[in-house]
Amino acid sequence: MNANPDRPSEQRPSPAPPTPAAGFAVPQHQPKDGRQGVPVPSRVRVHHLRAMKERGEPLTMLTAYDTVTARIFDEAGIDLLLVGDSIGDNMLGHPSTIPVTVDEMIPAVRAVSRGTTRAMVVADLPFGSYEASPAQAHATAVRMMKEGGAHAVKFEGGAHLAEHVRLLARSGIPVVGHLGFTPQAENMLGGKRVQGRGNEAAETLMSDAMALQDAGAVAVVLEMVPRPVAARATEILAIPTIGIGAGAECDGQVLVWTDMAGMTSWSPRFAPHFGEVGAALYAATREYAAAVRERTFPRPEHSYAE
Ligand code: KIV
Repeated sequence: MNANPDRPSEQRPSPAPPTPAAGFAVPQHQPKDGRQGVPVPSRVRVHHLRAMKERGEPLTMLTAYDTVTARIFDEAGIDLLLVGDSIGDNMLGHPSTIPVTVDEMIPAVRAVSRGTTRAMVVADLPFGSYEASPAQAHATAVRMMKEGGAHAVKFEGGAHLAEHVRLLARSGIPVVGHLGFTPQAENMLGGKRVQGRGNEAAETLMSDAMALQDAGAVAVVLEMVPRPVAARATEILAIPTIGIGAGAECDGQVLVWTDMAGMTSWSPRFAPHFGEVGAALYAATREYAAAVRERTFPRPEHSYAE
């Protein structure tokens, strides 16, 4: 992992080998649950997603925005890496996802693609880059694939975008849908609010999900949807549902990595910290600064005698 030979080697232990997720057991692994013989894909592809759903194996998805973190998540065995437009409020200092542009997304998609060997890389189409027509969605998706190296794209919206999905699917571009709370529409939705509450809203969500599936979507993200509604969608769809704030019955789960790793003190109710990386980074930074100020860094072994 120490790419620069002039830098002292890092103390970070090498990441644990990927757990044998989703039937993609590493060859030497002897699964205890009878999954011997399941093929090991060198890259997670669309047919694996449906196969995993059929086998009841949870899909893991995380956001990623750069090569360094993408490499860690890929090595840790995450199945799908989403270059989310959440890059806007998580990395670029925007107040929301709405200002994010295609030109901001492309370098991030490229960086994440370069950092992965196994995960499927899914690129979000940002606000204003796809809604107007199937042709607009196609043009943006092609950029994400040709310039960014993405394997699939995601965009927000239901039945009204079925033709967009159909054109992309026919063009060889896998599409992941996104229903429930759709952050690009937060101004219409009245802020970050649970969606699909009540019979009528739940029925609309089901028919949106079916429309996306019928048009050729390969999976659908369900964000901030009541658990029973997400469970029902998961039951009726043949394609996997990937939940975020949508309960445990979804076929997979996605989190924004900065929430998952505890990079900030606040994160949404549905995103517990699985680590305190922000606090660890802060502590490392304080230690470094103190060592420089106290002249205990660099030590002789960090310098060149001649
Ligand atoms: O952009 C993003 O991070 C997302 C996830 C919340 C699913 O769309």
